[in-house]
Amino acid sequence: MSRGRILLLSAPDNRLEAMLGALKRKGFEIEAGIGRAALSLLEAQPFDAALLDLEQPDGIEICEELKEESTDLPVIVLTRRGTLEMAIRSMRAGAYDYLFHPLRIEAVSIAIDRAVQHRRMRRELRKLRRVVIGPTGFEGLIGTSSAMQELYELLEQVAESEASVLVCGETGVGKELVAQAIHQKSGRREGPFIAVNCAAVPGTLLESELFGHVRGAFTDARSSRAGLFAQASGGTLFFDEIGEMPMSLQPKLLRALQQRSARPVGSDREVAFDIRVIAATNLDLEAAIENRQFRRDLYFRLNVIQVDVPPLRSRSNDILILARHFLRHAATRAKKSAEGLSQEAARRLIEYPWPGNVRELENSMERAVALCRGQEVTLAMLPIRIRDYRASHVLLTAEVPEHLVPMSVIEERYIRRVLVAVGGKRGEAARILGFDRKTLYRKLIRYGIEK
Ligand SMILES: Nc1ncnc2c1ncn2[C@@H]1O[C@H](COP(=O)(O)OP(=O)(O)O)[C@@H](O)[C@H]1O
Ligand SMILES: [Mg+2]
Repeated sequence: MSRGRILLLSAPDNRLEAMLGALKRKGFEIEAGIGRAALSLLEAQPFDAALLDLEQPDGIEICEELKEESTDLPVIVLTRRGTLEMAIRSMRAGAYDYLFHPLRIEAVSIAIDRAVQHRRMRRELRKLRRVVIGPTGFEGLIGTSSAMQELYELLEQVAESEASVLVCGETGVGKELVAQAIHQKSGRREGPFIAVNCAAVPGTLLESELFGHVRGAFTDARSSRAGLFAQASGGTLFFDEIGEMPMSLQPKLLRALQQRSARPVGSDREVAFDIRVIAATNLDLEAAIENRQFRRDLYFRLNVIQVDVPPLRSRSNDILILARHFLRHAATRAKKSAEGLSQEAARRLIEYPWPGNVRELENSMERAVALCRGQEVTLAMLPIRIRDYRASHVLLTAEVPEHLVPMSVIEERYIRRVLVAVGGKRGEAARILGFDRKTLYRKLIRYGIEK
């Protein structure tokens, strides 16, 4: 890799040829030009830093123009010792550093390295700032685990496009919140966000619910009514539990999405709409397609971009952050003074595998707050399945059948434990476990274990 792409703007009477050659030999990529004319090189390719010889007419102006063209390009100015004032003026004009003639090649390359680093760091920072908006999450989603950071980054990109999104994940992981976050980040944020739960609306009513109906279309239709497609126009329509969409309605939905228009029930007029579609499912739709319960063409239409929301047990760093959030929320609502978790309660929350994900955690904290008389939620206030959950060392010594568990539970816990012991080094973990690497990777994916 190059040490950095550098733009050299030299003075007409001093082309700094010797320095140019020396820097190239040190591994920098350099494009050079004379004075203001060199500014045009900025258009073609980005640079990591610029060197500007101030010993030329308009030196300061050129520095200003450079900064205008490329705001975060660090500019190192080269000047004579007698003209410190020039150096100061150039710093005001946005220069990053200055060096005095005669130039020592070592000093120049150190200054460039620093500038390049600075620029790369600023870029990284900007990326981070763009993604993590609050200290605890992103657009209503709470969690700072690496799995969630990755998710936020993906959501940011997805929001910019108009493509259909399929949000996949176990129940209670936050699929609806994810859909809302995409909407809030998109150009449609001023428009409506309308959610329809395909499992909750009886199949017979779903068509008129979606597309609307005209008066007299069926027995109960005393007046005409606009459907959700019309109501969501200009915004986002969210199909929750899309896997429950009746087979009979799927071709109509597909047609509507392709044509961007649909006919209300009982009408012969097409009504156009302008919506962005997000769908969510906790089912394996590919399997549903195999079983002829879901249409492949509709699946492809909906799944232009797939967003997978990780289960809570694979991001245990988020558990306590979420628990405290729900605790505070429930306490405020119930006007209770509960504000923290006992050590034991916190430890149990982290150990428990959360099959119901964030929703289960939310419900558990609500319940705990309702039972809480003091300021601290203790083990006794947690639901019994969580309170009685046995960590792996207890599992191995359990004797009563109710406390015995499937082999996979033991395996998952043991793999986690080995990974922690070897500091996450997978090769070493595989060796200890007696798996080949491939087998270990497969199991890591299956159990949702993070890097
Ligand atoms: N990352 C999160 N941060 C805060 N609350 C969350 C998060 N994920 C889920 N929730 C909450 O948990 C509950 C379940 O989320 P929901 O989006 O309905 O899950 P799903 O649709 O995947 O079943 C909701 O009350 C939601 O507000
Ligand atoms: Mg849901």
